[in-house]
Amino acid sequence: MKLYELRETKGIDSLIAVERDVPKVWPGQVLIRVHAVSLNYRDLLIVAGRYMRGLKLPLIPMSDGAGEVVEIGAGVTRVKRGDRVAGIFMPNWLSGEVSPYTPRTALGGSVDGMLADYVVLSQESVVHIPSHLSYEEAATLPCAGVTAWNALTSWVLKPGISVLAQGTGGVSIFALQFAKLAGARVIITSSKDKKLEMAAGLGASDLINYETVPDWDQKAIELTNGIGVDHVVEVGGPGTLARSMNAVRVGGRISLIGLLSGPESSVNPMPILGKQIQVQGIFVGSREMFEAMNRAISLHQLRPVVDRVFAFDEARDALRYCESGAHFGKVVIRL
Ligand SMILES: NC(=O)c1ccc[n+]([C@@H]2O[C@H](COP(=O)([O-])OP(=O)(O)OC[C@H]3O[C@@H](n4cnc5c(N)ncnc54)[C@H](OP(=O)(O)O)[C@@H]3O)[C@@H](O)[C@H]2O)c1
Repeated sequence: MKLYELRETKGIDSLIAVERDVPKVWPGQVLIRVHAVSLNYRDLLIVAGRYMRGLKLPLIPMSDGAGEVVEIGAGVTRVKRGDRVAGIFMPNWLSGEVSPYTPRTALGGSVDGMLADYVVLSQESVVHIPSHLSYEEAATLPCAGVTAWNALTSWVLKPGISVLAQGTGGVSIFALQFAKLAGARVIITSSKDKKLEMAAGLGASDLINYETVPDWDQKAIELTNGIGVDHVVEVGGPGTLARSMNAVRVGGRISLIGLLSGPESSVNPMPILGKQIQVQGIFVGSREMFEAMNRAISLHQLRPVVDRVFAFDEARDALRYCESGAHFGKVVIRL
């Protein structure tokens, strides 16, 4: 079978295509013929050695894939041959609260990921994918989809609340789509007017170009009659958090998800106290959340936004495309 391996972490060119035998299936496991893998910003950090210490090499990268079950081990009851499934991001976070151990099993980081023709996973760590989705669309769900779902549904989400999503990458476009499903008002920022128009096409009602309007937090306050937004989906991190604390209303929520603006800064925490803001760290989510999200996606026939699909041989080009920031929504590799 074909797969990509990381043998060192010196950037995108560290990704090497290799051949291996198809892995064996043990009791309780399933063999999946992977048909599509989606990319996340995390994959760029991983290939560059900027994600975590102690990465075990060689590593099959990328957390997000969807495919068909082609073989099941003894005792498998959750799925059968021919089922269409996706792997969950953290194979041992099935439900309930996160534990100290869950992040240590994340696919494509702590353990091998999905950028391979065939992968073996525990039957517990796969979910059925919505039947109206292609494999390319379903491959976008495990990380970006579940993260946005967790951020939005773990706090108040009801018609009329305002959600501010930063930029138009994978997580933010899912946040836009899920917020719209719930009847929320979406204020979205982007560095490109063209992408803002595309976000409007998905239902964003208020558009702010954060390059031409660097004080986008003030604009968000104006748009909400001086009150501030209910919920900020924070993917910028250190470079945007102070403005998010300004943009959010008293008693509002910031879901702290990403660090697109860099790993460090000094942020004055006083507004958190003064405005009684809830700042909640979000790290993807559980299988239970994934399944709840899939029910909503199926019910509303929601389609993830796939910007571009690359061929297996073009995996490095796909990463370079993500790195360029040209995408809107998700980037996928077909296997
Ligand atoms: N905690 C978690 O569980 C979790 C899960 C998924 C992702 N993440 C993190 O969340 C972040 C987003 O991930 P992703 O996969 O959605 O990334 P992505 O698809 O690569 O998104 C990139 C887009 O973000 C926007 N952006 C970049 N810098 C920005 C800034 N300073 N302010 C506002 N928007 C900015 C840009 O949009 P425009 O081109 O429109 O300007 C850019 O195209 C990353 O830091 C990632 O590591 C965390």
